[in-house]
Amino acid sequence: MRVLLVNGSSHTHGTTMRALEEMIRIFAGQGVETEVIQLGGKPIADCLQCNQCQKTGRCVFREDGVNAFVEKAYQADGFVFATPTYFAHPSGRIFSFLDRAFYSNGTDEIYPAFAFKPGAAVAVARRGGTTAALDALNKYFSIAQMPIAGSTYWNNVHGLYAQEAEQDEEGLQTMRNLARNMIWMMQCFAEGRKNGIPVPDTESSFVTNFVRRHDHQK
Ligand SMILES: Cc1cc2nc3c(=O)[nH]c(=O)nc-3n(C[C@H](O)[C@H](O)[C@H](O)COP(=O)(O)O)c2cc1C
Repeated sequence: MRVLLVNGSSHTHGTTMRALEEMIRIFAGQGVETEVIQLGGKPIADCLQCNQCQKTGRCVFREDGVNAFVEKAYQADGFVFATPTYFAHPSGRIFSFLDRAFYSNGTDEIYPAFAFKPGAAVAVARRGGTTAALDALNKYFSIAQMPIAGSTYWNNVHGLYAQEAEQDEEGLQTMRNLARNMIWMMQCFAEGRKNGIPVPDTESSFVTNFVRRHDHQK
């Protein structure tokens, strides 16, 4: 089994990575392979809604790792999206990255690289705003038919810097339990596949936009 972890911080060894390391230890102990996608400090363009990806399945911005991530996602069994909290929301870079990853993989509202695989969101912060950041990240999972993994408390670790996170014993425990719960979900799904339980045959015939002509405009 394989898990992709996206670190939405510019710091490759910051608080977000400290939280992810706690999960990676549990994954490794259970033989689950991991790869961390470090978004780093370079600019990541926002989605242009140019819709070229709807024809090609690839984003027109080819250099910042979004397309490579989607390719890898096909082979992954689970995902962790982790972010520092910036003004009570996820970092702009992880929003841009994930918007383009999901939009380019979302032809006909189906997300083949991601659907039916568990996802977990993680947010770190000095003090507050983490639950709003988590809400935003969890929405990628819920729109893509991805079961959301939970833990024994909100998926947060607190610290201004990675060193401070060491004092957040409950936060780190929450990360370990989150990894354990993801492993259990992935194992259950693998057993289901082995035993011939198909993924749900969900419908996608209807896509209606919220634009209607009102009677008085006729
Ligand atoms: C632009 C910006 C906004 C921030 N907003 C918040 C906030 O709303 N709440 C909070 O507790 N910490 C906030 N922080 C602090 C970071 O979330 C915190 O330092 C975190 O540990 C950074 O994680 P990293 O080391 O993985 O980048 C903010 C930091 C920056 C740079």
